[in-house]
Amino acid sequence: MSARRGVTNSRGAVAPGQMTRREFVRLAGFGAAAGLVPALAGCDSALGNSSWALRSATKTFLSAFQPLKAGAGDKNILFGAAAGQWALQADPAFATQIATHAGLLVPENELKWETVEPQPDTFNFTPGDWLADFATQHGQKFRGHTLVWHQQLPTWAGVGVTGAEAAQQLTNHIAKTVVHYAGRMHSWDVVNEAINPRDGRADYLRNTVWLQTIGPDYIDLAFRTAAAADPAAVLVYNDYGMEYDGSDADARRAGILQLLTRLKAAGTPVHALGIQAHLDPGITSFDAGKLVTFIRAVADLGLKIFITELDVIDQRLPADVATRDSEVAGVYAEFLGAALQDPAVTTVLTWGLSDRYTWLSNFRPRSDGLPVRPLPLDSSFQAKPALYAMLDAFQAAAPRPAS
Ligand code: XIL
Repeated sequence: MSARRGVTNSRGAVAPGQMTRREFVRLAGFGAAAGLVPALAGCDSALGNSSWALRSATKTFLSAFQPLKAGAGDKNILFGAAAGQWALQADPAFATQIATHAGLLVPENELKWETVEPQPDTFNFTPGDWLADFATQHGQKFRGHTLVWHQQLPTWAGVGVTGAEAAQQLTNHIAKTVVHYAGRMHSWDVVNEAINPRDGRADYLRNTVWLQTIGPDYIDLAFRTAAAADPAAVLVYNDYGMEYDGSDADARRAGILQLLTRLKAAGTPVHALGIQAHLDPGITSFDAGKLVTFIRAVADLGLKIFITELDVIDQRLPADVATRDSEVAGVYAEFLGAALQDPAVTTVLTWGLSDRYTWLSNFRPRSDGLPVRPLPLDSSFQAKPALYAMLDAFQAAAPRPAS
């Protein structure tokens, strides 16, 4: 896994746990939705096929500034953000922003398998514990990401073993990690990105090492093991690419709904769907009706919905900062306006908080070399239109029941 380490961030600092952009794009299938038909005619983004940014480009936002967790909290919605230990430690001003805005903290990389269990049955909770303590000190809930994923795995996991041995590795990893944080965890992303219709299976499952060794029930096994280790945590199935219009997203929504339906029918303890929401107005178009219908179908299974990794890829948006920020805000407004219509959507997290620290600097850089601006705060921690768009969306949402 050494190739995945040592990638520099936008400030040139080394960020542990980062993988290369090329590796991520290949594995996660970014770009797969390119060429989709726009939902609205007459739009003229850089690629000529974006519908969702431009609609709100001239919108005036209604909300006065307040911390995002306060705006969301007014409607009993939980707002949180991902951050890494190295940034929080090195940059106290950033730590202050995370403490101010986020009611829920999720480690960006520190609870992934390669960090937590780098060698078989040798566990390292030091980085995760540092973040859990940060959350406690700042009155934040804490969230785990992620127990089972096909990326950021140590090289030995699931390799050269029988099905029974792979199941032993999987359950040992989950049981020991979840027990360690039991009582402190709001929720766990138990399984991440298990659906990939392009792998051609009738059940839409991604052809991972766990599928190959254990079979489709590895997902049930993971959830059952997590539930036994921490009966109080909300157990989440987390995935991407279900936010857009187009045939690729249609297939992903169908696959995810089929998986969740099967898990519920089997009595598998899954409690929520995580919608990553790495939104890309440069390559995709948006159909609010499809998203709303999908969310309701998931909620009808008895699941909550969390928006888990929200950010807006501005790779192909105009260079002009005011125009770009306005279009990014429009994407936040349109997406959250649709998603928050359903009261089952109770939790919203951004992947990062400030443009100073964002994975998109590495994974989706702009061809003109300008810094990316995907998040609600700019790189000087000033509130951007996106932050006001989020506050407006929370304001427009129906109150959720107090939990
Ligand atoms: C990303 C991190 O932000 C990067 O620092 C790391 O190099 C790669 O992973 N979907 C996920 C997250 O579920 O774990 C990914 O996080 C972003 C996409």
